[in-house]
Amino acid sequence: MFKSTAFLALLSLVPTLVSAQQPLYAQCGGIGWSGGTTCVSGATCQKLNDYYSQCLPGSATTPTTTPTTTPTTTPTTSVPTGTTTPAAGNPYTGYTIYLTPYYADEVKAAAALISDATQKAKALKVANIPTFTWFDVIAKTSTLGTYLADASAKGKASGQKYLVQIVVYDLPDRDCAALASNGEFSIANDGLNKYYGYIDQLVAQIKKYPDVRVVAVIEPDSLANLVTNLNVAKCSGAQTAYKTGTIYALKQLNSVGVYMYLDAGHAGWLGWPANLTPAAQLFAQLYRDAGSPPFVRGLATNVANYNALSASSPDPVTQGNSNYDEIHYINALAPALSSGGFPAHFIVDQGRSGVQNIRSAWGDWCNVKGAGFGMRPTLNTGSSLIDAIVWIKPGGECDGTSNTSSPRYDAHCGLSDAAPNAPEAGTWFQSYFETLVKNANPAL
Ligand SMILES: *[C@@H]1O[C@H](CO)[C@@H](O)[C@H](O)[C@H]1NC(C)=O
Repeated sequence: MFKSTAFLALLSLVPTLVSAQQPLYAQCGGIGWSGGTTCVSGATCQKLNDYYSQCLPGSATTPTTTPTTTPTTTPTTSVPTGTTTPAAGNPYTGYTIYLTPYYADEVKAAAALISDATQKAKALKVANIPTFTWFDVIAKTSTLGTYLADASAKGKASGQKYLVQIVVYDLPDRDCAALASNGEFSIANDGLNKYYGYIDQLVAQIKKYPDVRVVAVIEPDSLANLVTNLNVAKCSGAQTAYKTGTIYALKQLNSVGVYMYLDAGHAGWLGWPANLTPAAQLFAQLYRDAGSPPFVRGLATNVANYNALSASSPDPVTQGNSNYDEIHYINALAPALSSGGFPAHFIVDQGRSGVQNIRSAWGDWCNVKGAGFGMRPTLNTGSSLIDAIVWIKPGGECDGTSNTSSPRYDAHCGLSDAAPNAPEAGTWFQSYFETLVKNANPAL
């Protein structure tokens, strides 16, 4: 499957000269890293971004090669003439959600480190709960083909229809209002063209597996930042690139029948009454500019956040906002979307929303202490506006480092309500995972 398999096999024969081998989930490379670069047996050093390589379970499943060709694609101005037409209604109905082996492997390896038998058994259950797979660097895109092939084979073997959940997350100058999740592409360094290449790579693989349905969350935080953070220079500077890149993603993914939900922040962000109308207008404008792609199904809310779908009472930190949970936010946003011609359907992340009233401020987003896994993914949502409750953030993967010397340190990750000793964003945070398991609500 991977062109690099032979190369990796060869690498493993090279004698290890570096002194100590790094333990599972430890850092093993990155800019400024001078420690060990090899991992203990059973783990492989994998590059997650320029700043961080990590020892992950198993042999290398993430190709370490990067594309050698610079993508030269420019956006098409016409709507793609794909032959696919979306089925009316909820894209999840009638489909089995594919369990991504990457997360399942992370969870199984994490469970193996838990000594308490009860907690270990609970942790292992998480491996069977579907989460989204984040394509946050171009180097990971080739793994999508592997997952799609696997889902296709499972579908053929079982007679079930499979659905793969992905997060599209690689806009240039990403995470413009924070530091922890800065991406690999910069606008100054031809990042928009590189982003087109990233989208093209996803599309090329999806095209090969028309029997597998793909649901995508499009670019967490990006459009929400354009609604509220244009006072931040990096956000205003990224405005055109974010819009152009998003329109390209919507058109191209539509052409291969990917059901899309644009990220819409959460109740404590775009849910403030003053932000609802500007947000709805931005979503509707981009949708029209992309040619009203029929596979754009709606919006994803609460991605990687901690808000309840329906809080029993407002968390004190939400004071002043009548939309104090996701259902209030969604009910308030839907009419504004509909009047702008945007499809008002939603999916809601509840992966880490099991415990409420744990934040000192509503805007705190980084590894919030005391969080627990939340409602299990379900189509039984209690609202005709909500297609599915989903787990979008893979619980246990870190939001951002608490190391104040790291170039990607964001002050939110050093707050008193943020868990200490946090590794870099996207890498495994064992103690945080163990707390999510222990505090799960409903219990695992
Ligand atoms: C914190 O980050 C700096 C700079 O990347 C690094 O040299 C140092 O080893 C890190 N400290 C820990 C405890 O990881």
